[in-house]
Amino acid sequence: MVGVAAGDSPKDGWSSRSAFILAAIGAAVGLGNIWRFPTLAGESGGGAFVIFYIACVFLLGLPLVLSEIFIGRAGQTDAVGSIRKVAEASNASPTWSVFGSVGAIAAFLILSFYSVVAGWVLYYAGVMGMDLIDAILSGDPFRGALAGESQEAIQGRMGDLFANPWLLLAMHFAFMGATLYIVAHGVGGGLEKAATWLMPAFFVLLVGITIYGAFVGNMGEAFAFLFTPDWSKLTPAVMNSALGQALFSLSLGVAGLITYGSYIREGSKLGSTSAAIAVADTSVALIAGLMIFPIVFAVGLDPAAGPTLVFQSLPFAFQSMPAGALIGFLFFLLILVAAITSSISLLEVPTAYGIGERGWGRRKSALIFGGGAFLIGIACLLGYNVWSDVRILGFWPLFAETDILDTVDGFTGKVMLPLVALLTSIFIGWKADRRLVEETTGLAGPMLGLWRFLIAWVCPIAVTIILVTGLFPSILGG
Ligand code: TRP
Repeated sequence: MVGVAAGDSPKDGWSSRSAFILAAIGAAVGLGNIWRFPTLAGESGGGAFVIFYIACVFLLGLPLVLSEIFIGRAGQTDAVGSIRKVAEASNASPTWSVFGSVGAIAAFLILSFYSVVAGWVLYYAGVMGMDLIDAILSGDPFRGALAGESQEAIQGRMGDLFANPWLLLAMHFAFMGATLYIVAHGVGGGLEKAATWLMPAFFVLLVGITIYGAFVGNMGEAFAFLFTPDWSKLTPAVMNSALGQALFSLSLGVAGLITYGSYIREGSKLGSTSAAIAVADTSVALIAGLMIFPIVFAVGLDPAAGPTLVFQSLPFAFQSMPAGALIGFLFFLLILVAAITSSISLLEVPTAYGIGERGWGRRKSALIFGGGAFLIGIACLLGYNVWSDVRILGFWPLFAETDILDTVDGFTGKVMLPLVALLTSIFIGWKADRRLVEETTGLAGPMLGLWRFLIAWVCPIAVTIILVTGLFPSILGG
């Protein structure tokens, strides 16, 4: 995330095309890749989910990335205003801009549980940090992590954390506070530079740990699990969550890339820019899968363990790894960086809306939306202890058994994001002025034709089918 929050005045913008690509990748790569993707892949039975997810990224996600960036680039203002401008320039109804508002609400809801999960990362960074201090004090700074701790103790840590609402709250507060602070003050040069250094560092550690995991873990079984499809597992519900994951991970469906695109001032190679974002984001997710599942299988964890999977498996790799105490600490720290570059852009979407559409000041807008998301996040974390019986959408079979956090996550991912994606594709495929689209995107020839076909036909039809059958499985007689 580079300098988005600086976009208060129209003069601000990305300094270069590569700055924009880096910023968009910084927003895209986050807990969606490291936590949400492995969680869903594990719960959904692996291969078929993963392959369907990849298809969603390139056939549906990529054309939508380009569409959102186009809207922002053409509109040059917050998401709602940008859609309205494109609509006006295309003689379409300004009412189309409602999907920008729905997206902003989705961003706000995602932020609420995102901060809670980032709080878990913060907690683990703290645990590993103290372990590292311990290692240094004991004169063996390069020992493995959590030396001497049993498997039960390592896995039990997550349960202890979940049983402690105050600890969860403290972590959530710290993370949301940091996000709010950065967005309210605008992103200064310091964080810009830090992010451009830390994201590559994150990537290096990710690859390094994956290679290490290939030696100590069960890479063969992980590979088979992730890439051998058992198509009988590809139920409408699984397709729905794969689509939702593709949209979530690419930061689509919340008008985030519209907001980002609005800070592009010149240049028009939007096609290759979009492809770079999709390829980078998907690679990180797949590598994260290849990092986590070998350990999951080696230590006999259940791949379908759900949201705790990642946190329960990683510490094992660090325990046996040379310098594991150090690397483990660094790694959780870098996940935290990846999470915060995403969370500030999540908060930026509703904040920009408040500034652009309500005329609020940046601080006021950030405080209202950040504070609101903080409160909803509290409900999410209480769902793991005090309110563990609460089912907020319990009347709906799809959410009859999900706790509060999973419900907010599931409702945004399975309902809101696909809905916004559907409206975006119809708007761009059928309403937006063709000349404006061509001039702004810089696409021509067969690529333009392919993109048109995907956005006008494939996206609306596929998303509708996945959405309807996923949400109402009874239609298929199931
Ligand atoms: N893509 C981010 C991740 O994978 C999360 C995210 C979803 C996001 N929507 C967004 C980030 C909008 C920025 C803007 O972690």
